Amino acid sequence: MAAADHRQHVLKLNVGCGLDAVPGWENLDNSWSLVVSSHGLLRVGFDILERVTRRRLYTRFPAGVRRHDVTKGLPYPSESVAVIYSSHMLEHLPRRDVERFLREAYRVLVPGGVLRLALPDLERKARAYLGFIEQVRQGCHTARVPADEFVRSTLLGLEESWSLRNPISLVRFLLARERHCWMWDAPSLMILLRQIGFSEVRETGFRESWIDEVHLLDLESRRDESFYIEARK
Ligand SMILES: C[S@@+](CC[C@H](N)C(=O)[O-])C[C@H]1O[C@@H](n2cnc3c(N)ncnc32)[C@H](O)[C@@H]1O
Repeated sequence: MAAADHRQHVLKLNVGCGLDAVPGWENLDNSWSLVVSSHGLLRVGFDILERVTRRRLYTRFPAGVRRHDVTKGLPYPSESVAVIYSSHMLEHLPRRDVERFLREAYRVLVPGGVLRLALPDLERKARAYLGFIEQVRQGCHTARVPADEFVRSTLLGLEESWSLRNPISLVRFLLARERHCWMWDAPSLMILLRQIGFSEVRETGFRESWIDEVHLLDLESRRDESFYIEARK
């Protein structure tokens, strides 16, 4: 981080921060829940709807999270950002937007700036699936269905659709955002980062980083399911 840290004006971005906003950082998220959380009337309406339906319909975001959709680019000048962190956000973007986002990250980073990404690991899930299916082939009796478990674990499948006849299912579909668009493994993402032009790209461990504040960023709850990649401009 030495190359970026001495510049006092440079920013630090936590992109797709969810509820884990970090003090002193620009925390960005595009959740619909942010709109609800920040508009008094809407919030009252949703609170009533939640009481009536006895269901949680939106997430209470902490103050200080800026609503921004990163598929629209990053609203910062070129070479103005020292560090970009993003945990479990990339898999929610369509494939084309992932590339666009990474190019934007490259543009706004100062030379020597660092991008750190944490993502759920497609490779680990695929290996677990292949291991399990092999056990079943060899006669292991189980009521568990390997394909179901694999597809569910990727969050790429659709278990049931929303329906206009069930408005609650529609609201939940729009607000929940838990489904994934694309999944990644470390080697695949590293190829893409190199193609974009990052000079140094590496796979690292939990809280093992070029970024001093990594202990504020990597979430313990994500540790076992994630791979971590760092790329230096
Ligand atoms: C699974 S949560 C991860 C939250 C937190 N970073 C973590 O690791 O637990 C994904 C977050 O990314 C946000 N997100 C998804 N697409 C986004 C986009 N296009 N622009 C900004 N944020 C986005 C979602 O609103 C959600 O809060």
